[in-house]
Amino acid sequence: MVSARFARLSESQDVDRYSTDGINSLLRLLTAIPGRNTAEVNLHKGILIFCETSSIDNPINKQGKCSMGKKQDLSAEFSNALEQWAEDALEGIGIFKNRYPDFEKLKEKAIEQLRSVYSDKTIDMFLTSKDNRRMDCPDGFARITGPCGDTMEIFLKVDSGVIVDSSFQTDGCSPSKACGGMVAQMAKGKSIGKIKELTAQDVLDVLGGLPEESKHCALLAVDTLKEAVEDIVKREKS
Ligand code: FES
Repeated sequence: MVSARFARLSESQDVDRYSTDGINSLLRLLTAIPGRNTAEVNLHKGILIFCETSSIDNPINKQGKCSMGKKQDLSAEFSNALEQWAEDALEGIGIFKNRYPDFEKLKEKAIEQLRSVYSDKTIDMFLTSKDNRRMDCPDGFARITGPCGDTMEIFLKVDSGVIVDSSFQTDGCSPSKACGGMVAQMAKGKSIGKIKELTAQDVLDVLGGLPEESKHCALLAVDTLKEAVEDIVKREKS
């Protein structure tokens, strides 16, 4: 049943309707299914090419060289978020709990696969960050669209030169959500001067690394944060 569905997707090549996250999820699920060592994805163009040969490795693992953060004991919130992510991802490609007998096993494999690509810190951040929100009347705001086509927005509140609240929004990939959440978290309690010293590497270090092809997401988040800080400075001068 699963193979038939994937074959249909493969034939149609109609993947424009999938968001980057959707394609990411699909890739992870495809690579999680035994005997389907499958896919190659160009995330930026949204093109999915199925390679039906067992000799092709998971390209994320192949190119990733991700320096994984230490696996953590899972908190209840993180565990629930992971389970929910896996269910949504499976149901997003038409594999429903009540109709697929090995649903639980497939869910476990999808989670295992996700955790082999990203550190737990990264996953936790993109699944559960409470800073993924708009802010009314921020003191500083910036929006940058990166070369990948994804847009990051950062909102800041400042008091006596110290960031007292920060949040982000992005239409980008899961790593960009993790990076947005992390810079929002790192900005809080810091002075404007300290934020200017922040680098993409600092963000990658706290996240426990990202696959090579996702490292630019950290740069996009840091650049946007710094521009939001510049916005505060400009407003204070005017
Ligand atoms: Fe564009 Fe992550 S791929 S920000």
